[in-house]
Amino acid sequence: MLSISNVSKTYKQGNKEALKNINLDIMEGEFTALLGQNGAGKSTLINIMAGNVKKTKGTVKIGGYDIDSNELDTKKIIGIVPQDTGYDFIFTVDEALKKQSGYFGIKDNKEYIDELLEALYLTEKRSARLRDLSGGMRRRFLIAKALVHKPKILILDEPTAGVDVEMRHTLYDFLIKLHESGTTIILTTHYIEEAEKLCKRIVIIDGGEIVADKPKEELMETFSREIVVEIHFDNELKLDDFDFLKEYQPQIEEKTNLKLKVLRKDFSKVFQKLAGKNMEFTDLIVEKPKLEDIYLNLINH
Ligand SMILES: Nc1ncnc2c1ncn2[C@@H]1O[C@H](COP(=O)(O)OP(=O)(O)OP(=O)(O)O)[C@@H](O)[C@H]1O
Ligand SMILES: [Mg+2]
Repeated sequence: MLSISNVSKTYKQGNKEALKNINLDIMEGEFTALLGQNGAGKSTLINIMAGNVKKTKGTVKIGGYDIDSNELDTKKIIGIVPQDTGYDFIFTVDEALKKQSGYFGIKDNKEYIDELLEALYLTEKRSARLRDLSGGMRRRFLIAKALVHKPKILILDEPTAGVDVEMRHTLYDFLIKLHESGTTIILTTHYIEEAEKLCKRIVIIDGGEIVADKPKEELMETFSREIVVEIHFDNELKLDDFDFLKEYQPQIEEKTNLKLKVLRKDFSKVFQKLAGKNMEFTDLIVEKPKLEDIYLNLINH
């Protein structure tokens, strides 16, 4: 569906190598998160796919078409929600969406535009000028704009930055439905829980290079070396009693609960040690690793 091969980008200004030999294949129907710190190269990669930034090296194919030789065909297949929001300011929401439709030669799509505005909670704002929208509304407008031509691939560069919590969740539902109806989605975000909730594949860029690219579950499995285990007892506990588990950094919580940090491979060893001391527990809670921990672990290598 989307194939990026050996793509590099050096910005002339500052002679900055923003992308170093990126290889990425996105299959139809995937929902992929592109994560990375500020300046990692996410927007550069997205802007190359959108045709807004010229790559220095490599090839990009969208739906089998090369972006250099088939610009128009590739633009029909993707919709881009850019990170910066400033243009078209004098138009109203309606005018801007009609203009965008016209760009793809689409007429008579009023019904679809109505649907989009409704789904993105913008119906009330359809006659408002873009410059008069709030930041969060402008982001939602940009999503509608990226979708007017019903692209097969939707690429969103931080769509929820500056969007309030409630509206963020509305957007998540919107994206989940869009994905279920067959749209391939790539999303960059700094809200890790967003990637965790929505995406099945996680790609992490650091310093212009892909440092991880895995199904979410697999990534969490591979990189989560340490898990937190909370063991509940009937009686009050004293930290001194757990000297024999010192290497697992024992902590007592709420008097009766013991918290340990355990490497996955040592899991059974801990319980053997407890059994060896004839310590019987009443409950056990294992905290699953969060994508955020893995992410921080990876980029702080
Ligand atoms: N037009 C430009 N001219 C020169 N350098 C640029 C330009 N755009 C981006 N860069 C540089 O390229 C690198 C990657 O920037 P990019 O915008 O792709 O990062 P990003 O991952 O999207 O970051 P953020 O999370 O802040 O959006 C940065 O070092 C940035 O300073
Ligand atoms: Mg960016």
